[in-house]
Amino acid sequence: MPALTRRNLIKASAVAAAYGAGIGLAGRFGTAKAATEPLILKTAKIKAGLTDAGVTKDVLSYGSEGMPPVVRMRKGEAFAARLVNGIDDPTTVHWHGLRIPNRMDGVPFLTQPYVYTGDKFDYAFTPPDAGTFWYHPHCNTLTQMGHGLTGVIVVENPNDPAFDAEVVLNLRDWRLGGDGQFIDQFRPRDAAKAGTYGTVRTTNWKQQPQYDAPAGGLLRVRIAITDVTRVHTFKLDGGEAAVIAIDGNPVPSRFALDVLTLGPGQRLELAVRMPDSEGAVVTLSDVRGTTPKTLATFRAVGTSLKRAIGDLGPLETNPVAKVDVGSAQHIPLTLSATAENAPVHDSVCGSLGYSFWAINKVTWGGDQPDPMAPLAELKLGKSYVIDMENLTPHLHPIHLHGMSFVVLSSSTRTVLPLISDTYLIEPNEKVQLGLVADNPGDWVLHCHIIEHQKTGMTSYLRVA
Ligand code: C2O
Ligand code: CU
Repeated sequence: MPALTRRNLIKASAVAAAYGAGIGLAGRFGTAKAATEPLILKTAKIKAGLTDAGVTKDVLSYGSEGMPPVVRMRKGEAFAARLVNGIDDPTTVHWHGLRIPNRMDGVPFLTQPYVYTGDKFDYAFTPPDAGTFWYHPHCNTLTQMGHGLTGVIVVENPNDPAFDAEVVLNLRDWRLGGDGQFIDQFRPRDAAKAGTYGTVRTTNWKQQPQYDAPAGGLLRVRIAITDVTRVHTFKLDGGEAAVIAIDGNPVPSRFALDVLTLGPGQRLELAVRMPDSEGAVVTLSDVRGTTPKTLATFRAVGTSLKRAIGDLGPLETNPVAKVDVGSAQHIPLTLSATAENAPVHDSVCGSLGYSFWAINKVTWGGDQPDPMAPLAELKLGKSYVIDMENLTPHLHPIHLHGMSFVVLSSSTRTVLPLISDTYLIEPNEKVQLGLVADNPGDWVLHCHIIEHQKTGMTSYLRVA
């Protein structure tokens, strides 16, 4: 049990308030519990109210109460979860961004068997890093994630600076028709381009929800883009916001949020200074594309706490090993479209039946018992630089499992030395990502636009 300090009290009640009083979510969204017994994550087919058109059928979640729960863990403390598969298709859980042992990574064949209907799998690990992460299946991903199986992870650090409130935002779309029911999850011609967009956008499975936070207080906003396709450009109006962390790691130094573009799989943490006057509203929006879209609003309540962003101490950096660029071996990684539609193995974990993309000219053949050769074999403990180049006219959020990299340089823009697990590469960009190969195993690397991942843009690194 965490000590019931004043700070914990404030935090717990603010979180409860942010999620609305009286829905009994305080425990679910409250502070992390010691892992005495595993958290049960049971996949279920449910109905959910996502649009005004009425209840949507065939929604998938973990648990039967709507959106997958925000899973709270503590940095450096043991965590355990039991996946129980209550849906008709095999599944697994991948803990996106967590640097944990390979056998807990949730990738069928490469790290674990898939979990059939009625079966279970026990995950147990100790998250080494604090920050905002997320979880999702790594089997039949387009369908399962598309229908709802995407949840946010908060890894708490007891040494974090004190905020007055916290809100966690799970951003995602749904492919629904006018009747509120699911339509085809993708169109092949779009999978060969930027990906197929959803028709209904939600924040925490709601349309433009509003959360209350103390006037003049400091609100910690944790945002995860769990959508299968959509790139977002964030903007905040009506209050002051500083970017404090991206992809689960504190930024090297805080900066004011102007506009910031992140892709599927990425996370953003903001410190928002709420307006002083009660009732004033702060708006978080996505300004990418032609029509800006409100994602969520935050309303100031009570008398001003008169805090300042400058009051916040720094977030502790995570224990990610420093890359020795001088001695690093380079790994070329080229993203391209495939020349032809190569045959794709059908697999238990789902194939879209097309191949449009390749890494180093090789198209991933689908999840299968005998996977193709790794992209590269890395020596445990050594430094590497991935020289990644995008030869396509589309953006690709490239995600590496199991290890964090540092962004070293880009051919097209000035980059911060961010520590991350996902890099959103622009068309014609070349980027250098440094990493220390300190986690043994086979680690998948793929585009997080799931249609790209499932039509060829996947590979893996072997660390031994
Ligand atoms: Cu969110 Cu293979 O990852
Ligand atoms: Cu892609």
